[in-house]
Amino acid sequence: MRILLLGAQGQLSRELQLCLQDQAELIVMGRDRLDLAQPEQIRRRVRQLRPTLLINAAAYTAVDQAEREPEAAFALNATAPAVLAEEAAALGAPLIHYSSDYVFDGRKATPYSEDDPPNPLNVYGRSKLAGERAIQAVGGAHLILRSSWVYSLHGGNFLLTVQRLLQEREELAVVADQIGAPTWAGSIARASAQLIQSWHSGQDGPWGLYHLCAQGETSWFGFASAIAEQLRAQGKVVARLQPIPSSGYPTPAQRPLNSRLDCRRLRRDWQVQLPDWHAALLECLRSPR
Ligand SMILES: NC(=O)c1ccc[n+]([C@@H]2O[C@H](COP(=O)([O-])OP(=O)(O)OC[C@H]3O[C@@H](n4cnc5c(N)ncnc54)[C@H](OP(=O)(O)O)[C@@H]3O)[C@@H](O)[C@H]2O)c1
Repeated sequence: MRILLLGAQGQLSRELQLCLQDQAELIVMGRDRLDLAQPEQIRRRVRQLRPTLLINAAAYTAVDQAEREPEAAFALNATAPAVLAEEAAALGAPLIHYSSDYVFDGRKATPYSEDDPPNPLNVYGRSKLAGERAIQAVGGAHLILRSSWVYSLHGGNFLLTVQRLLQEREELAVVADQIGAPTWAGSIARASAQLIQSWHSGQDGPWGLYHLCAQGETSWFGFASAIAEQLRAQGKVVARLQPIPSSGYPTPAQRPLNSRLDCRRLRRDWQVQLPDWHAALLECLRSPR
């Protein structure tokens, strides 16, 4: 099995490399070797490398910045996946692609299923939705895995930012009315490796769109509280946390209040399920950097 992995230094890509390096011939392409904003480069590389499986862990992920740079967000999140899907289909190779809870508007009272109609509130969400639809329109074998609130020990994310701010400040205000499941990139990578193993051994479920996030739910405030508790357990002095509404923390891009994803379909079809968000946080914090 020869896997072409797009994205090198990203949170998810780094964890995928750890999980997949012993399972396959893994070709990792960062931006320096393949600029996904250049469709012709994508076509040339894929035709040259002829992978048996493509994994797109690259994306334009700067949610607020996307409001000012819609063309860049759409180039990476919509056009690049479309071209990858076309090239994968031409080779007869499946494509694994990741998407986001931000395709929804968050107005539903319960967790979102794959059948719920998307209605993104921001440019990033619209660009991710356009990418999903482009892959589906090509019609090749694919898995689109929507996740939420992704963090790891690398890159820019809520865990690392809050760990720093908790130790720099005396008080930290965190949004408490957005609900979702913080999901460790390591959990997504392990689940992806499991899906690939199932496919490779002929035990695969149906291709398509699935939700894949940690079990359980919390708010950003709840997530920050759990991070603070771990710092306190190490003897660190941390800021007092203050819960605030989203209206108290205005951002260029609006976020959904309900980011909860119902992941039962993936469990039913592929027997894959992620651990609880709190257990995964503890495991992430214990993992080697
Ligand atoms: N972060 C979240 O909270 C979240 C939530 C839900 C879903 N997701 C989805 O999960 C997936 C992985 O996200 P992540 O958090 O791992 O993202 P990330 O840490 O921001 O990494 C983004 C990756 O995209 C690559 N990239 C950016 N521009 C590129 C370009 N022009 N050409 C080639 N590569 C480029 C980067 O390449 P280099 O390695 O070369 O820097 C990097 O590897 C994405 O599809 C994202 O939409 C994320």
